Amino acid sequence: MLERVKEIYQEIEHFDVQTKEQLEQFRLRFVAKKGVVAELFDSLKQVPQEDRRAVGQELNSLKDLAQQRFTDYKATLENSQEETASAVDLSLPVVPNQTGAIHPLSLVRQQIIHIFERIGFSVADGPEIETDWYNFGALNFADNHPARDMQDTFFVEKKSEGSAADVLLRTHTSNVQIRLMERQKPPVRAIMPGRVYRNEAISARAHCLFHQVEGLYVDRNVGFKDLKDTLYHFVKELFGKDTQIRFRPSFFPFTEPSAEIDISCLICKGKGCNVCKYTGWVEIAGSGMVDPNVLTNCGIDAEEYTGFAFGMGIERIAMLKYQIRDLRLFTENDVRFLRQFEGA
Ligand code: PHE
Repeated sequence: MLERVKEIYQEIEHFDVQTKEQLEQFRLRFVAKKGVVAELFDSLKQVPQEDRRAVGQELNSLKDLAQQRFTDYKATLENSQEETASAVDLSLPVVPNQTGAIHPLSLVRQQIIHIFERIGFSVADGPEIETDWYNFGALNFADNHPARDMQDTFFVEKKSEGSAADVLLRTHTSNVQIRLMERQKPPVRAIMPGRVYRNEAISARAHCLFHQVEGLYVDRNVGFKDLKDTLYHFVKELFGKDTQIRFRPSFFPFTEPSAEIDISCLICKGKGCNVCKYTGWVEIAGSGMVDPNVLTNCGIDAEEYTGFAFGMGIERIAMLKYQIRDLRLFTENDVRFLRQFEGA
């Protein structure tokens, strides 16, 4: 019996407890009710009467040792866990968290929308794949107008020369003006942001895919003054109060009269630089009074109603506002470029 007690002493001394699992094994073997120590206590009855007291004492100190070790191991394990938790050094510099930024085109698009929403314009949307009628015909483009030419327009399906059913990628968002006027009777007051396509060689100033925002206001007694007031307000909100504006006579098939809108160059403040080609002015939009033929094409009485429309390129506005010199940067996804608009 004493031999067995000695063996278990040895075993306890050499039992390795580094993990929770080992601690549990230790408990089951030496501390638990069905463990080896408890087993020895059970067999104490078989020890002759005269030795029982001595063996009993040995067994008691064996039991104490097992219990003591168990408590110690447990405490050590718990402490070491606390140490790992407190090993986080809060004074270390933080590794920067890489978050995305809003794309400059989305940013400018949103700014434009906000300005017009505040003066009562809603936002309208329409298809990018369109028929000739909605992109050209209804907008009063003559059959032989050069903009219908293959050079400018990506055709998806050509039915016959100049057919109203030809399918194409829209070259401007004016198609949404037509679709809106078809389904909504005046007053119509909306802006149409969207993607447009033109078959142009890609360069620092041109791309085959870009974005526009067009605006349309049709009601009784809408005059050129309303167009001017609206665009003056818009330019001053977007580019600042000191920005100068000028209207230059122009031509669009769907507006009469038509005007192009220039603003004073933001970079040289009108003094002359290479961005404004030393004129002090940069063009930002086309505009005009909606041609009565367009209203008639949409089933609106052109005797009763008049309207104005305008359209601008979002890329161009973004380039002026943030002084971006190359249009291709918008589509290259270079994070060094995009990250500059974080928090803008
Ligand atoms: N649709 C014209 C363009 O794409 C812009 C424009 C819109 C001009 C409305 C006048 C009125 O260039």
